[in-house]
Amino acid sequence: MNCFLIAADRGAARVQALAKHAQGLGYTVSYVADVAALHRDRTFAKARTPLVLMPEEAGAAPGAVAEAAIQLARAEQGRAFVVHVAAALAPDLYKALVRSQSGEWIGWDNAAGELREVTRTLGATEPAESNARIVSFLPSKGGVGNTTLTVETGMRLSSRRKQPLRVALLDLNLQGGTLADALDIEPRFDIAEIAAQPERLDEQLVDVFTSRHTPRLDVFACPPRRIAFDDVPPAILFTFIDTIARRYEAILIDLPKAWVPWIDNILQGSDAVVLSGGATVPALRALTQSLAHLDTLEIPADRLAVAVNACDVDLLGRIAHRDQIERPLSGRSVFCLRRDGATANAALDAGRSLLEMAPNARLTRDLGRVAEWCGTAAKLA
Ligand SMILES: Nc1ncnc2c1ncn2[C@@H]1O[C@H](COP(=O)(O)OP(=O)(O)OP(=O)(O)O)[C@@H](O)[C@H]1O
Ligand SMILES: [Mg+2]
Repeated sequence: MNCFLIAADRGAARVQALAKHAQGLGYTVSYVADVAALHRDRTFAKARTPLVLMPEEAGAAPGAVAEAAIQLARAEQGRAFVVHVAAALAPDLYKALVRSQSGEWIGWDNAAGELREVTRTLGATEPAESNARIVSFLPSKGGVGNTTLTVETGMRLSSRRKQPLRVALLDLNLQGGTLADALDIEPRFDIAEIAAQPERLDEQLVDVFTSRHTPRLDVFACPPRRIAFDDVPPAILFTFIDTIARRYEAILIDLPKAWVPWIDNILQGSDAVVLSGGATVPALRALTQSLAHLDTLEIPADRLAVAVNACDVDLLGRIAHRDQIERPLSGRSVFCLRRDGATANAALDAGRSLLEMAPNARLTRDLGRVAEWCGTAAKLA
């Protein structure tokens, strides 16, 4: 267990006593001079749920250390835990610190006891719990409803009655993605900005890139501007995904049809993959080709589903020729979704999800089954 003690004067008696208290609780204590030094510290970057102690400094402006502690707790939410040590703290600063859910204040008088109390539950919080599960949606062909599937799954998982999740939708159709349009929100994920200056990527920039659809559903989609895939180093994308993973329980990725090598890395790093396709003969051929590629990536069978969209239905509303569709896909988890252009396009035109616009439509229920599978396969239940 790592503890980082931020103190300009590490010789001060109170600071040394604080370090001892932390050591007594089983922490390995490192001193750092300030927050900037903390961010440069590789041990800190790699540590699992590190504890950061920020005692008030003699001579510092009142509240300055508390403000810095709040900022750090917000930036590190869900990963590090920040404890501000001070004789007193203004109520509004205390509120802000606690609301970050990654910070607390303790007094000097009973610092040992309070530190024990505050850190008691920290070791028990597995960082894996605070890391989002990733579900990727891969189209085997253009226009097969990949974005619709991503959006509807996100809406379901973020609004389900039992354990609604905090969900991010990430549109990686870097040129001309339509995910933000589908929900009628302004895209803000300006990837060109971080491609040019990767060092600028921090929690504040993530805030700037976030488009909020509901309190539990955020969207990261690129504004329409010309950017070549090659201009975006894959490492930037992976760092971005890692950065937002701390904020959500699920990240749903709308992948582009055009293949680029990093898509394979994303697929291999996903907890579940939905391959979308169509039901016509050429569309099914494209589906089996994509499946053959996915098999080379060794995606485990229980993490891979095939969504065959826009299937014809018979007079009773059942999927027509289901056996013909499923035969080449035997051994896979297959979901057939009916064709219902009127409902799908009405939602698109309104910039709303099908779940909101037509919750009882049979297509909406078909989509719901895919979302349910995603929840189970990615262990989001
Ligand atoms: N089951 C369905 N029945 C009829 N139309 C549908 C169905 N699902 C989606 N659509 C419609 O198909 C069109 C394409 O949908 P969507 O944008 O989700 O596909 P996509 O695979 O993401 O396309 P793109 O290749 O452009 O990214 C939209 O007009 C959508 O409303
Ligand atoms: Mg799309």
